[in-house]
Amino acid sequence: MVKAGIIGCGGIAQNRHIPEYAANPDAEIAGYCDWNRDRAKEMAAKYGGRVYESVDELLSDPTINAVSVCVANTQHAEITIRALKAGKHVLCEKPMAVSIGECEAMVQAAEESGKMLMIGQNQRMMKEHQRARALIREGAIGKVLTFRTAFGHQGPEHWSVMKNRTWFFDKAQAAMGAVADLGVHKTDLIQFLLDDYISEVTAVITTLDKKDPEGLPIGVDDNAVCVYRMRSGAIGTMTASWTYYGAAEENYTVIYGTEGVLHIYDRPDYTLYIQKPDGERIYYEMEKKLRPEVLSGSGVIDEFVSALTQNRESCISGKDVMMAMKAVFAGVESSRTGQTVRVL
Ligand SMILES: NC(=O)c1ccc[n+]([C@@H]2O[C@H](COP(=O)([O-])OP(=O)(O)OC[C@H]3O[C@@H](n4cnc5c(N)ncnc54)[C@H](O)[C@@H]3O)[C@@H](O)[C@H]2O)c1
Repeated sequence: MVKAGIIGCGGIAQNRHIPEYAANPDAEIAGYCDWNRDRAKEMAAKYGGRVYESVDELLSDPTINAVSVCVANTQHAEITIRALKAGKHVLCEKPMAVSIGECEAMVQAAEESGKMLMIGQNQRMMKEHQRARALIREGAIGKVLTFRTAFGHQGPEHWSVMKNRTWFFDKAQAAMGAVADLGVHKTDLIQFLLDDYISEVTAVITTLDKKDPEGLPIGVDDNAVCVYRMRSGAIGTMTASWTYYGAAEENYTVIYGTEGVLHIYDRPDYTLYIQKPDGERIYYEMEKKLRPEVLSGSGVIDEFVSALTQNRESCISGKDVMMAMKAVFAGVESSRTGQTVRVL
């Protein structure tokens, strides 16, 4: 049985981690901690388990064997490493951490402790993405030449429990903005879909519009456009934005091969289809798009629990996600220097 401790009880914990542990028959929630004690109390009242006064108190409970780290970005590495050293398996939210040194230290702490480190890159668990990866592998669109992938919405103030006073806008707590919030999803995803790594990045990452509650520009980026070259030679763009001021978010990927074009979530009516050069369309999912990440389980907690129960490596290991983080940090450097940055 996985006995989980929840560190941070905000948006992601409330919408995914906590309900998904509660729904998993192989898991039980031991308790919660949050700087805002009321938030932890509310979760304990709703889902059971106790409230811990601090991260240390939670980590010293010997009945807890796994934790979810659901706090602001700049605390991911420190809390994850402490938890691993305390003998807990860790599911840490994305972005994995805010520097490559931190990512490496997390992976090393997992190796030294013999505990699992998994990262919440939930896009890998979406069934359209898993099917698309298999189709590309089978050669359904021939050799991949180019791609475009994007994730954009109105901004994290519409999601965070802290609304427009959110830590997402504060450089000291978030380190990076849209590129770390949304860009890491699509960066990790393109490597996952193509079963390849990004070798080179040219990027513009900037703050165009978003203001804090005082009306000042936020401390982090609100837009990122990155050109990625893969090791295979394929090239494409990754766009992340917090300034898509329409109601619906954009969250799509299109991959262009020598024998067709693969579309994922780029139309409201079909989630996955291939357009062949002769005009034929092959639909793989006929159901309407239902914002799968929001309305259904993310699959991340089930994967964490199942990997622990089966004593196997998770399919979103810290070691693998670190390869996507390298590309994200290369994008930040490219934007700062105006140069193309080599990753691998
Ligand atoms: N996988 C996804 O798609 C996804 C979506 C949203 C957020 N996230 C990630 O989840 C993490 C949390 O984001 P959120 O949207 O839940 O934020 P949020 O602002 O809604 O909630 C964060 C919570 O953490 C608490 N907190 C912060 N530091 C703490 C500490 N040291 N100890 C105890 N509690 C602490 C805050 O009081 C707050 O309740 C971020 O890293 C974010 O990038 C992932």
